[in-house]
Amino acid sequence: MDYLQIKKASPLHGEIKISGAKNASLPLIAMAILAKNSVEIRNLPNVADIKTLLKLLSNLGAKCSSAWAENNNVTTIDTSSLTQTKATYDIVRTMRASILVLGPILARFGHCEVSLPGGCAIGQRPVDLHLKALEQMGAVINIEAGYIHAIAPNGLKGCDIIFDKITVTGTANIVMAAALADGITTITNAAREPEVVQLCEILNASGVQIDGIATAVLKIHGTNGRLLHIEPFSIIPDRIEAGTYLCAAAITRSELTLTDVNAGHLGAVISKLQEMGSKFTITDNTITIHPSEVIKPVKIVTQEYPAFPTDMQAQFLALATQADGTSIIEERLFENRFMHVSELQRMGANISLNGHVATINGGTKLSGTDVMATDLRASSALVLAALVADGITDVHRIYHLDRGYDSLEQKLQNVGADIKRLKE
Ligand code: UD1
Repeated sequence: MDYLQIKKASPLHGEIKISGAKNASLPLIAMAILAKNSVEIRNLPNVADIKTLLKLLSNLGAKCSSAWAENNNVTTIDTSSLTQTKATYDIVRTMRASILVLGPILARFGHCEVSLPGGCAIGQRPVDLHLKALEQMGAVINIEAGYIHAIAPNGLKGCDIIFDKITVTGTANIVMAAALADGITTITNAAREPEVVQLCEILNASGVQIDGIATAVLKIHGTNGRLLHIEPFSIIPDRIEAGTYLCAAAITRSELTLTDVNAGHLGAVISKLQEMGSKFTITDNTITIHPSEVIKPVKIVTQEYPAFPTDMQAQFLALATQADGTSIIEERLFENRFMHVSELQRMGANISLNGHVATINGGTKLSGTDVMATDLRASSALVLAALVADGITDVHRIYHLDRGYDSLEQKLQNVGADIKRLKE
C-alpha cells in the first residue's frame, strides 16, 4: 500500500493546473449509456473513481478506451455492445456513485440490477430517493439479497417528482432516466451543483429538451426511448480540487495561481477564504491567491450549492487549526463527516466536537506523525496539516486520496512542497 511522506513546507510558489471534475465526470460517463454513438469525453481526471466506473461499463459490455496525456485526455465510450445490466457488488462496494448507472440502464433496457452500495465512512448515504423517484416513473423495484432489482418493461413515464432532500447523484440519475422516458418529468428540489448543470446542458444539446437548468425545478422532455447522439465535450474544472489547493496556499501563507479553473463555481469557498484574510486576483480561467500573514477564524455551515460545500469542510477545518482565534464548523449534510478530527488532534490540533459542530481553537503548533486517511476529503485535510506541521508526517491509506485527486503529489512538488509517495 502507498503512503505519502510530507515535510513542513516553506512557502509554495508557482502554478497548479486544475484537472477535470471527478463528480461531473461520473454522471457524464454513465450518460454514454443513453447514446447511440461512441461518446468522446475530454479532460476526465486520471483518478481511481473514473477508472472504476469505466471498468463497470466495460464489464457490462461497453467498449471504453482512454488516453491520459498532459493536455489532451481523451476517453471514448461505445455502449452499442453493452448487453449486461447487472452492476455487481465487487465494483459498487468500491464506489457508491456506481448507482449512477441505474437510471440510464433502466431507461434504455427496461431492467437493471445494482448492488446496494451499503454503508460509508462519512454516513449512511441511502439511495431511497433515487428508488422512490424511479417507482414514480413506473419502475417496479425489489431489494433482494443485497441487490436492487428494477424493471420497467413498458418503459419509464414522465411524472412530477419532488425530492424530500436535495440529492446530487439522485438528481443526475433521475435526469438521465427521464431523458429516455415517455413524456415530461418535472423534478422539484433538484440539485443545482455545477456538475448537475453540465449533465443537463449536454443532454439538452443532445436532443433532450431540459427547461430550468441550474434552477431547483427541472423539466425534462423525454425522447420515448430514442437514443441520443452526443457530440464530443470536455469536463468542467474540479472545484473541490481547486478549493483544496487554495487552502494549501492559505495554510502555508503562499501565493499560488490555479489555471484551467472556474472561479464562478467557487463563490462560497473564495468568500470564506476572503473572510479568513486571503486576497484574490481572478481572470476567466485563473485564480491567484495572495498570502495573508494572519489567518482569521471563521464560521462555516455546509449546505447544498451554491452554499459552502461539504466536500471542502475537512480542508477548512485543517486551515482553521492555524487561525488566530476560534472557528466553528457545522456539518449539515453527512452525519459522520468528522473522522479527520481525531487524526488532526493527534497532530496537536485543539478541536472539540459536539454532534455535527466542530469548535476549532486555532493557533496551535502541529507536529508531524503517522496519520490515517479515512475518506477522500479527510485525506486532503491531513495533507494540508502536514504542510505546516513540524517534522515529518506520514499519511497512510492514501487509496482514499487516489480516488479523487489527480497527481496530487506531483502538483504539490511542482510548487515546492516536500512530498513523496512511498510503499508501506
Ligand atoms: C454527491 C457527491 C459528494 C458530495 C455530496 C454532497 C458525487 C459523486 N458525490 O454525493 O462528493 O459530498 O454530493 O454535496 O457527486 N440522501 C438520502 N437519500 C438518497 C440520497 C441522498 O437521504 O436517496 C441524503 C444523503 O444521505 C445526504 C444528502 O441526502 O445526507 C445529500 O446526499 P447526496 O447529494 O445524494 O450525495 P451524493 O450524491 O451521494
